[in-house]
Order: sequence, then C-alpha cells, then structure tokens
Amino acid sequence: MIDVSAYSKYYGKNGNLVYLEEIDSTNAYAVANDLEQFTCVVADIQTAGRGRSGRVWHSETDANLYFSIVIDGLDSSQLLPMNIFAGYLLSDTLKHMTEAKIKWPNDMTVNGKKLAGILMETSFSGGVLEKVVLGIGLNVNCTSFPDEINDIATSLFLETGVKYEREQILASFMTNLKSSFEAFRTGGVDIVKLWPYYSALLDKKITIHKDGVKTEYTEKGIDGTGCLLALDKSGSLKTIITGDIGYDFCR
Ligand code: BTN
Repeated sequence: MIDVSAYSKYYGKNGNLVYLEEIDSTNAYAVANDLEQFTCVVADIQTAGRGRSGRVWHSETDANLYFSIVIDGLDSSQLLPMNIFAGYLLSDTLKHMTEAKIKWPNDMTVNGKKLAGILMETSFSGGVLEKVVLGIGLNVNCTSFPDEINDIATSLFLETGVKYEREQILASFMTNLKSSFEAFRTGGVDIVKLWPYYSALLDKKITIHKDGVKTEYTEKGIDGTGCLLALDKSGSLKTIITGDIGYDFCR
C-alpha cells in the first residue's frame, strides 16, 4: 500500500494526492474527474493500465508506481515537448538510484531495458485543449515480469538490488515537476539542447517501427516540437513524428 502520510512527509502537506488501492487506470480516473492543477492520482494496482499506441501497461503488482498528474496551462503545441520534458524530470528524479536514459519519445531505459513509460492523455472541448493528464508507470520493486515482456522490461530493484520507497520517489518527481513547470510553460526550457544529456541513443543505429514496417536510421536528436531527427540509410535527415523505436537497438 502507498503510505499517504509518508508521501506527505516528503512532499509537504499541501500536495493534492488521490490514493486508490485499485482502479482500472489512473489516467482514466484523472481524465474523468474534475481535479485541481498538479493533483496526483496514484494506485497500488491498475486493472486496465493503458500504454502507448493502445497497448496494455502491466500493473498487477503493488510493488511499482502507477500515477497520473493533472497539468493545466499548456497549449496543444506544448504537448509533445511536455512528454519529452517529463522524461527528463523522471530521469533526474532517479539519478541517485540509476542512470535512466530516454528512448524517444519518452521510454525510460536502463541497460537497454524499459524501466518506465509515460502516457499523456488529453481531452478537447470544441477544438480547445481542455485537460492534460500525464501518466507514468515506473517499475520500482518488482522482481519479475510476464513472459511476453521479460526480455525488455526491468525495475529499479532488478538494476540495483535495492528496494526503494515508492512514496519518496513519487514526492521527489512531484517536487521536480512543480518547481520547473512554470519555466517550461513559459518557454524557458530548451528541450533540444537538453536532449543529448538524456538520450539513450543519440548517434546510435535505431529501428523505427511504424504500421508494421521497420526502417533503420541513425538518431540525431529532436527538434523544438519534440519530433525525432534521424538519418536514413541514404544520409538524408528525416523528421519522425510518430512511431516507436524498437528494443532491438541493444542486441
Ligand atoms: C508506455 O506505453 O510506455 C506508457 C505507459 C504509461 C503507463 C502509466 S501507469 C499510470 C498511468 N495510467 C495508465 O493507465 N497509464 C499510465
């Protein structure tokens, strides 16, 4: 169980935390409910955790973190950059535990395996951005994974041999987010310049998987909108807007 008083001790009493023992998806809950800026919805277990591209996020153990944060004040052009920036914040949060680097757009990887995933969900009203929810699944203390993801998934415990306090990690992420969000929102964070410090794959060979097709590139960074820049085999620089980088990069 998440210990709400331990979380408050680390974060300070004013943090808006909604703790649920079990829920289908913290993202779904945060999107559906009217919650204040920076409210964090955290659950021990999700029965229908959502991943990117309609995938499932395995959430059946209470050893990990599954949480969603309400983010107000962004315009639609800031959504992909915020996704990227959230990866930077998560990497910073974890830096005393492990060196977690980003696989575009925002998979958190350690030693070529996935440690965390980020899923931003939005709702629009009459074409106007109404709500943004930033959802993060972080494998903290779990010791194993279902067979189908065992080769590509890892946890902080599996990487370091140490069990971590989930409340402290969550409080630390929220503190990082709260202290830097205004700078990000007002254009004071240059995600392009920061990318080389966080990317797991800069200048490395990658395979982009899109619509069942795999294409090889060399990663060359991101642009200001958060799109990936990559050299194709003929040496021409492409801007990748959607797609996944395969986990074959580490083999
Ligand atoms: C990915 O596919 O990499 C993104 C995974 C995001 C999972 C988190 S867990 C908390 C929040 N609630 C959800 O249903 N999904 C996100």
